[in-house]
Amino acid sequence: MTTILAMPGNKAAAETIAANLHGQLLHPTVRRFPDGEAYVRLDQTTLSPDVVIVCSLDRPDEKFLPLAFLVAALREHGAKRVGVVAPYLAYLRQDRVFQPGETVTSRHFAQLVSRIFDWLITIDPHLHRYGSLAEAYSIPTQVLKAAPLIARWIAENVDSPLLIGPDSESAQWVRAVAEDAGAPSLVLEKIRRGDKDVEVSVPDVGRWRSHTPVLVDDIISTARTMIETVGHLKRAGLPPPVCIGVHAVFAGGAYEALQAAGAGRIVTANTIVHASNRIDVHGMIADAVRHYVSIPAGNMGQ
Ligand code: R5P
Repeated sequence: MTTILAMPGNKAAAETIAANLHGQLLHPTVRRFPDGEAYVRLDQTTLSPDVVIVCSLDRPDEKFLPLAFLVAALREHGAKRVGVVAPYLAYLRQDRVFQPGETVTSRHFAQLVSRIFDWLITIDPHLHRYGSLAEAYSIPTQVLKAAPLIARWIAENVDSPLLIGPDSESAQWVRAVAEDAGAPSLVLEKIRRGDKDVEVSVPDVGRWRSHTPVLVDDIISTARTMIETVGHLKRAGLPPPVCIGVHAVFAGGAYEALQAAGAGRIVTANTIVHASNRIDVHGMIADAVRHYVSIPAGNMGQ
């Protein structure tokens, strides 16, 4: 029997995992004292040795300390192996020093996570300059890919799709989805000058006017990347693009800004709970967790 803990906001994913594993599902108390310090409490102290915490790591700064305290409580109450399912894994975009005086936060965050957990499962982490998570994480990790599920959604919902990746980093997702969906694809060039200052160059797309453009990216954060691309495609006379992101980070009013910019449907996977969630990845996660917890600790590798 495996114990599954749902961190706040992760109930649906944790329920699917618990049902799939016939596990014990716990909903710990996680709240703040009036002074802002974190309070955590397990709602059940009889645990199985194998514990899985489900916690998508968007807005990681506010989540990480409660998570660390919970893992401490679990180990004090008999948990021997504690894994984390983080459908969205944060702190991967600072994968090098861009300006003097910075540090590579992705590496430090990976060390913190690796220190408290025994293994990690995530979906489509933003691996740009890292070839794999093993370059930053010292615990066994498994990466799941949303591409086949995105391709299926496109095949069922979009007529004559033309898949478009807004930058070279998105090429890995766009090409995989295009192949699975049997659709043509284009990858654009992007220059990012600042958090919200993005320029995207679009080649001549006139010959694709009879297609439905489908933008695919891993993360939609400020949505500037998608907004810029939507503007170019509109000016080129293409129909309103369907905008698909794996991870619905949507900083501030990004979702509303993307709608206002003329996007067609905006669709995301449910790695982060959001109104745009249409692509269900919870079953895929549950299958991976079931496989993972059945592996004896010493055989997990990396
Ligand atoms: C960047 O390299 C990623 O693949 C996404 O294109 C990026 O995170 C999107 O960010 P934003 O929504 O802020 O433009």
